[in-house]
Amino acid sequence: PVWTPGHCHTARYTADWKSLDARPLPAWYDEAKVGIFVHWGVFSVPGFGSEWFWWHWQGEQPPDSKCVKFMSKNYPPGFSYPEFAPNFNAEFFNPGDWADIFKASGAKYVVLTAKHHEGFTTWGSPNSWNWNSVDTGPHRDLVGDLGEAVRNRSLHYGLYNSLYEWFHPLYLLDKKNRFRTQEFVMHKLLPELYNMVVRYKPEVIWSDGDWEAPDTYWNSTQFLAWLYNDSPVKVIVTNDRWGAGCACKHGGYFNCEDKFTPGKLPKHKWEKCTSVDKFSWGYRRNMKLLRTVALGGNYLLNVGPTPDGMIPAVFEERLRGVGAWLKINGEAIYASKPWRIQIENSTVPVWYTFQGSSVFAIMTTKPPKPTVQLMEPKTSPTTTVTLLGSQKPLPWSPVNPNAGLTILLPELPYTPGQAWILKLDGVH
Ligand SMILES: *[C@@H]1O[C@H](CO)[C@@H](O)[C@H](O)[C@H]1NC(C)=O
Ligand SMILES: *[C@@H]1O[C@H](CO)[C@@H](O)[C@H](O)[C@H]1NC(C)=O
Ligand SMILES: *[C@@H]1O[C@H](CO)[C@@H](O)[C@H](O)[C@H]1NC(C)=O
Repeated sequence: PVWTPGHCHTARYTADWKSLDARPLPAWYDEAKVGIFVHWGVFSVPGFGSEWFWWHWQGEQPPDSKCVKFMSKNYPPGFSYPEFAPNFNAEFFNPGDWADIFKASGAKYVVLTAKHHEGFTTWGSPNSWNWNSVDTGPHRDLVGDLGEAVRNRSLHYGLYNSLYEWFHPLYLLDKKNRFRTQEFVMHKLLPELYNMVVRYKPEVIWSDGDWEAPDTYWNSTQFLAWLYNDSPVKVIVTNDRWGAGCACKHGGYFNCEDKFTPGKLPKHKWEKCTSVDKFSWGYRRNMKLLRTVALGGNYLLNVGPTPDGMIPAVFEERLRGVGAWLKINGEAIYASKPWRIQIENSTVPVWYTFQGSSVFAIMTTKPPKPTVQLMEPKTSPTTTVTLLGSQKPLPWSPVNPNAGLTILLPELPYTPGQAWILKLDGVH
């Protein structure tokens, strides 16, 4: 019941967690299941390591020697991080092309970094003078331009926003004062955040960079109460990074820690965001997506465009592959719910979801025999089984009178994700 469409238009929320946490999550989010996370900013220019480059190079003590070496080898002495900005030029950025790829991936929402920990905004923030994509670099409103293209393809649009900024002087001042002052929050963060919401009306705020200070420092509950009560986006969804100790506890859906991988069904809606890794999409990634959905989560797939605005061909290929697979199998994914059992170890692992009166059994490995035995579904004389992508009913026989069935599988076709889904009707 927590995930049903809310009474967002009538309820008023007060600026405390008890009230805010009781807000039902807008239904579109749970139904969407798959999103795209775009990490794009000045950090794309060195493109070395990750979006944490600046911190590893000049923030942490001692600095990361690989980053230091990279800089001394490739850039003149005294080169500073902000000097990367002019090379963040986005000259080939075609938001329509990106949105076409995202749409083809089968994702239902897109989240762009509006501001990462480096503080550079990918829109013309008046609170980030000369450190934004309109004053410097691309000289373009990236947040606005991508948003228009994404929404034009009926995808939901969200924005990532880092609360803290590693090197902002006001933030450093507050930090020195052990967060007993709020200079940064009152004069930089909040004016910018309110402005961003009113201008772009994002449907997700993916908050981050919260952990050094408590939610009271960030004014998180006051901001969220405004967001839910009075902002122009009542269907907005937020995550749980709103202050030290909030993750996995307060806010909208839960991201928890970065590598959060629950073993069993969590009680609260959650989202898994994946970091860029070198594992091939075909096997590992798809398995993670299916496991995430079976356990009630959403899956946010990360993409890192180049500073000149291209999506690397290898990402595009993977995204289109996921889309091709979802086109056949989406019935078991979009708007599905976790079933009463989430996984069964048959001869291969089988994950379950359901939608309406259909139960879906998801195999991420090809069974060694042309049969598979499922012990969890309870059959009836009217039970039918099909393989998604084909209408043909598959022969099956009961294992026990009231539990379990053995299904005779057809030759399993090649799929880009190496995952096959059986649709069971008339089972419970
Ligand atoms: C997308 O843009 C095209 C061309 O400008 C327009 O005709 C169409 O209605 C738009 N679609 C949506 C969903 O906004
Ligand atoms: C921040 O929170 C304080 C109370 O803790 C409140 O007085 C103030 O109005 C809030 N400011 C904003 C901009 O939300
Ligand atoms: C299924 O197998 C996996 C891996 O072998 C194991 O971790 C898990 O606990 C098993 N689950 C059930 C429900 O038996």
